[in-house]
Amino acid sequence: MILVVGGAGYIGSHLVKELVEKEKVVVLDNLSTGHRAAVDSRAIFVEGDLGNEEDLQMIFKSYPIKAVMHFAAYSLVGESVIDPLKYYQNNVASTLTLLKIMLKNNVKNFIFSSTAATYGIPDVELIDETSATKPINPYGHSKLMVEQILADFSTSYGLQYVVLRYFNAAGAHQSAAIGESHNPETHLIPIILQQLLGQREKISVFGSDYDTEDGTCIRDYIHVTDLATAHIRALEALLTGKKEAEIYNLGNGLGYSVKEVIETCEKVTGVKANVEMADRRAGDPARLVASSKKIFEELGWKAERNLERIIADAWKWHQNQTY
Ligand code: UFG
Repeated sequence: MILVVGGAGYIGSHLVKELVEKEKVVVLDNLSTGHRAAVDSRAIFVEGDLGNEEDLQMIFKSYPIKAVMHFAAYSLVGESVIDPLKYYQNNVASTLTLLKIMLKNNVKNFIFSSTAATYGIPDVELIDETSATKPINPYGHSKLMVEQILADFSTSYGLQYVVLRYFNAAGAHQSAAIGESHNPETHLIPIILQQLLGQREKISVFGSDYDTEDGTCIRDYIHVTDLATAHIRALEALLTGKKEAEIYNLGNGLGYSVKEVIETCEKVTGVKANVEMADRRAGDPARLVASSKKIFEELGWKAERNLERIIADAWKWHQNQTY
């Protein structure tokens, strides 16, 4: 049985939908940003907090957990600058509690959701796992701190882990049963699609004077279902003993500018966007594109869904959003 912490959230719920095909799953989520309706009905759902030792003990005592996948984090860069305590408390301190209770129950396989924000402002075109990690905000720091904790726990306690550093997660399940639903929404693709649906007046492009071809920021968008399958590969690698302590980037290896994403949304949906140029948003690196060569070579995973597919799936979801 696999414990998925944060399994009601955007990425966690997509992983659960794939994982229930292969394993028995328990989801722990406090529903602070997640949605009960996003959790596949084949999973057992426990409402509780990863920082609460009693909630965790109850789960480890009740179910034969062989691995934990941890998605339960706050993940907004801007908010982390305004309220770093919230980020260190949940993303670091509560994760330590989770790890402590896991080890107490002799559960030693762990998959951790990390982020491109651990790299800060990269000095390379294509970021690989050996690129320098220099976060520029508390969110990135909180994730990198956990990565360090995992390395130390591996050495001292025999914890086995895979860290997955996501680039820009996007898209929705192909069934359109689940998708991205944040409140407030800050991410580019849902904002564009909401505008195309008439739910927003306009799209603000944050900065058009970056050192990129069209002046807007470049990101590596990866389909949330591709992220889910990467987690399943990582889990198999841990459970078969193939891997003990690894870090992998998860991206497409392709960068798209904000303008290109808007144009692709217009093309896929056939609707014209209302766009305005705006000031830069604080803390945005000009370009973040992953090399995912390592996970391809070692675990045979690569992203299979391109930007058009990401947008087409997200569009189906946003047209019929249920939560
Ligand atoms: N953008 C706009 N207008 C908007 C929203 C976004 O122009 O209304 C731009 C941003 O400035 C950025 C790009 O679109 O250049 C993508 O922005 P998102 O907010 O969708 O995603 P980020 O790249 O900021 O954030 C993602 C993850 C974070 C992670 C970060 C790493 O969501 O969790 O990558 O830098 F920390």
